[in-house]
Amino acid sequence: MYLPSDDSIFLANIVSRYHGILALEIGTSSGTILRELSKNFRVVVGTDIDFYSLKHMLMMSRNESVICCDAASALHNVKFDLIVSNPPYLPSNKNHVDKSVDGGPTGIEVSIHFLTSALDKLTGDGKILFLFSNLSDTCKLDRFITKNNLVMKKIAQKDLFYETLQIIELTT
Ligand SMILES: C[S@@+](CC[C@H](N)C(=O)[O-])C[C@H]1O[C@@H](n2cnc3c(N)ncnc32)[C@H](O)[C@@H]1O
Repeated sequence: MYLPSDDSIFLANIVSRYHGILALEIGTSSGTILRELSKNFRVVVGTDIDFYSLKHMLMMSRNESVICCDAASALHNVKFDLIVSNPPYLPSNKNHVDKSVDGGPTGIEVSIHFLTSALDKLTGDGKILFLFSNLSDTCKLDRFITKNNLVMKKIAQKDLFYETLQIIELTT
């Protein structure tokens, strides 16, 4: 299970500025961000590939709905006003894969997978709020955004001593 860290708190603080009816978090783990979303959205859903994180989270709080699945793959015929993610973004170590932090060979592949899964689950004026780090290959992310004609707005940046985190908002 991914314990809330600098990136989780950073995104949770930004999420508190948004409100609407339906919100989804992909990769929810401990539920720190999901609980923040539930203050300003009527219905919140969290997904995670790690069943034990979700089980642990539900022992602490039973108000949120969670689904154990790959990205947003289990959700059909539902559109969200906001989709949020703090994805795993570290370049993977081939000998030991930890799905809570490993983002693929260059660190960005899982992020692109999450975004691909999220795109058709957004309402017409829905927004995606996404965190990424300069430790992953952000050029690939830029190419994905351009290829899918998404509009990107930089919302916040946090400089830590070992990495720079950015939160971006994407609209279609
Ligand atoms: C960096 S952690 C973020 C956890 C939490 N949202 C936070 O900010 O503290 C990324 C989460 O994504 C989950 N994850 C990794 N691959 C996934 C996938 N294919 N589908 C859904 N969740 C996935 C991991 O299990 C992990 O809980």
